[in-house]
Amino acid sequence: MRWILPSFLLLAGADALLRPDGVGRAPALGWNSWNAYNCEIDADKILTAANEVVNLGLKSLGYEYINIDDCWSVKSGRDPTTQRIIPDPDKFPDGISGVADQVHALGLKLGIYSSAGTTTCAGYPASLGYENIDAEAFAEWGVDYLKYDNCGVPTNLTDEYTYCVPDSTDGSFFPNGTCVNLTDAAPAGYNWATSTTAKRYKRMRNALESVNRTILYSLCDWGQADVNDWGNATGNSWRMSGDITPYWSRIAEIANENSFLMNYANYYGYPDPDMLEVGNGNLTLAENRAHFALWAAMKAPLIIGTPLDTIDTSHLTILSNTYLLTFHQDPAVGRPAYPYKWGYNADWTFDPVHPAEYWSGPSPALNGTLVVMLNTQDTTQTRTAYWKEIPELEDAYAAGSRGFRVRDAWSGNDLGCVRNKYGVRLGAHDVAVLVVGGSC
Ligand code: GAL
Repeated sequence: MRWILPSFLLLAGADALLRPDGVGRAPALGWNSWNAYNCEIDADKILTAANEVVNLGLKSLGYEYINIDDCWSVKSGRDPTTQRIIPDPDKFPDGISGVADQVHALGLKLGIYSSAGTTTCAGYPASLGYENIDAEAFAEWGVDYLKYDNCGVPTNLTDEYTYCVPDSTDGSFFPNGTCVNLTDAAPAGYNWATSTTAKRYKRMRNALESVNRTILYSLCDWGQADVNDWGNATGNSWRMSGDITPYWSRIAEIANENSFLMNYANYYGYPDPDMLEVGNGNLTLAENRAHFALWAAMKAPLIIGTPLDTIDTSHLTILSNTYLLTFHQDPAVGRPAYPYKWGYNADWTFDPVHPAEYWSGPSPALNGTLVVMLNTQDTTQTRTAYWKEIPELEDAYAAGSRGFRVRDAWSGNDLGCVRNKYGVRLGAHDVAVLVVGGSC
């Protein structure tokens, strides 16, 4: 089938926020403290992560941002003279700039966190009303990335509506699922660019653009105020859902929502299904694999969220998959993989338990097509890629080609010239990743 989107989704990349030096062009690769440590952070943990990114070979694969999440500052308030947020001297004795210097010395970049409110989600001072002061401080400290959350919003700046306009043509289909809760959905025709949420995020964008340092801008408004509509012009990525957790049910739920947003993803602007949980909780190896493959195929920012000094080899191997990373960072094609068939469900079904199972996307850097097949079921199943169904192979197929060269992206094995289809048995929540090359 063809990737035909409802017209309101056909706005891909048009008004993306372009940044100097290609910053934010491809989706970000890095590490963040939140999923690993929550508030229990300090300079040692951040620098350990940075050193491990180098030692484990992740830097040479492209991972570059080391991001400090919530809880890095003095909670009681700003510096009375400068009005700046004060780095917690117990956690960060050399300040944020001291950490930045060491991260930069490793050839990596440093990220920080604030919120478009008066406090962060954990109750620390945040940037609303102080956008310029904070952007200047971040730039001066050597910060390269800002994750900007949506907590601590004063009541006079909250929006009347939180979620998207229901699709009038079909009340059951919602692009990001959040409209399912219709109690605070906006009426048809509502212009989200005028929402106070959009305005709060644009204030920080303007502040970041005014400073003498390029700081990647990562929006975290959890999909509210139809951020898909204005996120592309405002930041380099935008969270499209609430928080991820290390459970397959949550990963599948977010993948399902994000699968409907793929036409928004392109150079300089990516919907963000939240940071990786690879290595966390009790996810099976198959679930870790599927999570990473889906996030890479969707061109989500790939931000590792597990302690790297204790990571299992099996999890590190997943995060290091060169085929998926090459697809994700392709310098010639910005669009992600799209579902070409839902598989378990009829096409375009919104199902938090069984997201789309068959995905494909072109990759000149891979010299072929990335094909992802997912088993969303709880039992072992067969999934089969039929060449004739894959949009990227359509022309060659129509011209008579029946065989294509195939590589298994997990084993790296060349599967040779495969005719017509490739079927595979997949355990519960496991995924096959193929690179389908030229005809043969
Ligand atoms: C949430 C955000 C998380 C994390 C947390 C910190 O709002 O989605 O990713 O940053 O706040 O308190």
